[in-house]
Amino acid sequence: MLSLLLDVAATVPGGAGVVLTTLKAHPFLLLFTVVLLVLYFKVFRDTAVNPPPTFNFIPGLLKGEFDMKNQGAMGLIRAGLKAKGDCYRIRLGHRFVTMMLGPEASQVAYEAKDTELNQAEVYTFTIPVFGKGVVYDSPPRQIVQQFKFVSKGLSGDAMRSHSAKILQETEMFFKTWPQKGSICLKKALSELTCLTASRCLLGREIRESVHVRFAELYEHLNDGMTAISFAWPGAPTKAHRLRDKARIEVVRIFKPIIAARRAQAVSTEDDFLQVLLDSRYRDGTALTDEEIIGLLLAALFAGQHTSSITSTWTGLNIFSKRKELVPRLLEEQRKVMEKHGSELTMDALADMELLHACLKETLRLYPPLILLMRKVKVNNLRYKDFTIPQGDIICAVPPVSMRMESVWKNPNEFIPDRHLHEEPENKDRNYAFQGFGGGRHGAWVSALPICKSRPSGVICCVLLTLSSWVSSPRSTTTPLSSAPLCRA
Ligand code: HEM
Repeated sequence: MLSLLLDVAATVPGGAGVVLTTLKAHPFLLLFTVVLLVLYFKVFRDTAVNPPPTFNFIPGLLKGEFDMKNQGAMGLIRAGLKAKGDCYRIRLGHRFVTMMLGPEASQVAYEAKDTELNQAEVYTFTIPVFGKGVVYDSPPRQIVQQFKFVSKGLSGDAMRSHSAKILQETEMFFKTWPQKGSICLKKALSELTCLTASRCLLGREIRESVHVRFAELYEHLNDGMTAISFAWPGAPTKAHRLRDKARIEVVRIFKPIIAARRAQAVSTEDDFLQVLLDSRYRDGTALTDEEIIGLLLAALFAGQHTSSITSTWTGLNIFSKRKELVPRLLEEQRKVMEKHGSELTMDALADMELLHACLKETLRLYPPLILLMRKVKVNNLRYKDFTIPQGDIICAVPPVSMRMESVWKNPNEFIPDRHLHEEPENKDRNYAFQGFGGGRHGAWVSALPICKSRPSGVICCVLLTLSSWVSSPRSTTTPLSSAPLCRA
């Protein structure tokens, strides 16, 4: 809803000031608007007791004070932080959104129980994509079990087998790059993560036979999650129609693949699809075809865009802002590969501390998930002296929280080394870093990537991508496969 409103304001030609000028020129229209607003505030008056302060962003928005085009809603949320502090509300239509910014306020958002803060009610826009009866359209207990299946598919053993496939895909991909020229990194790494996801998550059948068509359908599903979908997932828009058509075709593609796998007495596959086929709920029931397809799509959406965005920003940060890191990264690779032998394994990746630091710093500055929302279900959720009203949408905002001056020194600078020599004030501070969210719903991969002993699946994907890519110090346009891939 927030993005919808802000998108509309941002797209008014000549800025929102035009609205004011029009109103001034037509007194009846102005009067009508004022009457409407008065009625509106009377009907939806705020009856909350001791709520956080409200930040009225409308005047600033109309005056064009926020850089909506370049910063989106983030500039506005930062302005609220400055004006009202780390916990404040904004009014969106008849609803209020409570922003929880910085480590202390975010902790409340991340650590509350599911009975206090509900996730499913704000993520209904995913239901037409993931499907009925799965993830956010299933009861909380079932969601927990379904996410367990997903985490099993990304466990250490699973990732060990995935990493070889990812490496192979990455090498094949870079071999197609021309000797000279330029590339769009965002597009290229999105394609690459789609390929690796296809191979490791969706299965060999998809990767080998229908990958190109599947990638097109994925685009339609992705484009079908618009700002309007957030408020009205079934709105009769073109994007939604394409989304629904694509969903039907995805089911048509997967049904025979699943049937063929079910017909095998013993499977030789070790991908995520097979993990789901072999998984059982606590009562012993197997997943239905629809649940399997829904979870495959959920994992694909959770992992593909997050990994591809993280890889892209990491590349841009290193190559455009801190080129001097390249020799250090290469030296690290050389040393680590000397220790681990010629194969780029998970353990070798886990030893690349500077690369991890670059990824962590990228996630601090440009986390791919920017608004983490929940609906307040109780009337006694407290932060400081405030009571956050029942019915509010509560919102943790990692890109704002992780750039607070009170939390990080030089917060807008890309300084990977800060994670190698962690700033004392942040070392033990919960939620100074929120790139993976936190608490019960934070990406469970979050515990893995930054520490060395248990490298995360997703970060490995990113690392594998980057390791090979960074291995050419000469230029970003060189075909990197021609450079030795992480070999000593
Ligand atoms: C760089 C990569 C990734 C980043 C930055 C990332 C970030 C996040 C964040 C911020 C959340 C919390 C969402 C919320 O609180 O509303 C989350 C949750 C989740 N992520 Fe990731 N993620 C990444 C990769 C992945 C991958 C590869 C998968 C699986 C294939 C995955 C699966 C999930 C799932 C299932 C949840 C929901 C957990 C729950 O609600 O209990 N993520 N992720």
